[in-house]
Amino acid sequence: MTQDELKKQVAAAAIEYIKGVPIVGVGTGSTVNFFIEMLADYKNDIEGAVSSSEATTERLKNIGIPVLELNSAGDIEVYVDGADEVDPRKKLIKGGGGALTREKIIAAASKKFVCIVDESKCVDVLGKFPLPVEVIPMARSYVAREMVKLGGQPVWREDYYTDNGNEILDVHNMEITNPMEMERLINDITGVVTNGLFAHRDADIVLIGKGDKVETM
Ligand code: A5P
Repeated sequence: MTQDELKKQVAAAAIEYIKGVPIVGVGTGSTVNFFIEMLADYKNDIEGAVSSSEATTERLKNIGIPVLELNSAGDIEVYVDGADEVDPRKKLIKGGGGALTREKIIAAASKKFVCIVDESKCVDVLGKFPLPVEVIPMARSYVAREMVKLGGQPVWREDYYTDNGNEILDVHNMEITNPMEMERLINDITGVVTNGLFAHRDADIVLIGKGDKVETM
């Protein structure tokens, strides 16, 4: 199977989790894009979706799914999103697509977070994928120096702005053996909006596209 076929297969498996759910939280990225395409068949069964990015909002609107504000939607039953890395404890690195802050907010407000990945995302220790850190623009250099103290090599995602108008540092060479502590340490740096570690609010279910099967973690 190609990587896209694995992504499609795992996206299809996630559809089972949104049946009967009034408002669905929808993440961002190429895997979720397949899920959004499939959601079109269920648009008459759901009230709407809460979106984690402008890109996802556009896709949802294009297929006729109403996009609701999180503030008026209340708690979300199910949130479906991809990840850049997944460890055996369902801790994640996310934010390769830059949507980490809104993704983290929706994950926090959701009762069930269903993460959909192909097997290439599974690792023993998080950190091979550069950890995205969203920063207030004027704090970028300061946060970068603090990240060096934590053992990383930050690289500025130049000429890129998040949907919130902030900047991203992609932090290389982190071997994250304690994701809970690292998430907190980075978020404690003044000027950090949030970082791409989903350790405190991790995935409830990870669906992994592997060969011609979908494994559930
Ligand atoms: C978006 O900011 C990310 O958190 C994505 O969920 C993550 O990068 C996975 O994207 P793909 O499905 O494109 O690999």
